[in-house]
Amino acid sequence: MIGDPLREALLAAAERIGPMEGRITWLPEATSTNDLAKLMAERGADEGCVIVADTQTAGRGRLGRSWASPAGAGIYASVIFRPAMRVAPLLTIAAGVAIADGIGVATGLDVQLKWPNDLYAGGRKLGGILAEAAAHFVVLGFGINVLPAAYPSDISARATSIATELGRRDADRGLVLAECLAALWARYTDLVEHRDAAVIDAWRARAASTVGKPIEWERDGIVERGTVRDVDATGALLMATESGPVIRIVAGEVRWL
Ligand code: BTN
Repeated sequence: MIGDPLREALLAAAERIGPMEGRITWLPEATSTNDLAKLMAERGADEGCVIVADTQTAGRGRLGRSWASPAGAGIYASVIFRPAMRVAPLLTIAAGVAIADGIGVATGLDVQLKWPNDLYAGGRKLGGILAEAAAHFVVLGFGINVLPAAYPSDISARATSIATELGRRDADRGLVLAECLAALWARYTDLVEHRDAAVIDAWRARAASTVGKPIEWERDGIVERGTVRDVDATGALLMATESGPVIRIVAGEVRWL
């Protein structure tokens, strides 16, 4: 069942959202849509099942952080994928491109990406993606700040919303969600049909402003400094280290200096 606030836009996009059509559940409140989607996937739910919540009481971000999820102000959604082994590692990169594309189509806002998958607008964080994989599925969760809200002060200095960036009082959450789901299905189809290079190129275009920027990479307590060089064909970040060699980064924390 799709909740009324989102129904119209999702119905209009029905032909472009692949197997998600008819498999979208809207909840007024969830602990974490990723947790619910994982539970459903473990119990055999099909690819394309989507959980969307108006608010989350235990929203989660990457690296064990929490994700502020004020009611009515954002999109908090998780999609179940059952990708082939070849496709799974590129799914987060494809999702970043898709969510940026979807926001652009719905609102006209130009969204940039920062590795691994932070969504930025006007130099501030607009959203993020949390992909969680198990043996037979990947749950792809995304959070987008649509309207300004009362975030904790440590977040509000670094965060923005679609409405803020557009200088408007409102933005259509249903339309943003519908276009993000349509773009997700389109980019997933690109991967399934071996158009990986097109996805990586689209990612590079949205992350172009980060090339040459200084970063710090921490993994297992070891910190390396360097500058961003590129992403490779598998979506790994390439960092030119201060000591010389280029490192391929696939996990750990990247801090932007
Ligand atoms: C990040 O940038 O750290 C990723 C944030 C991902 C947040 C979304 S909101 C919907 C889904 N459910 C969660 O608990 N987290 C993701």
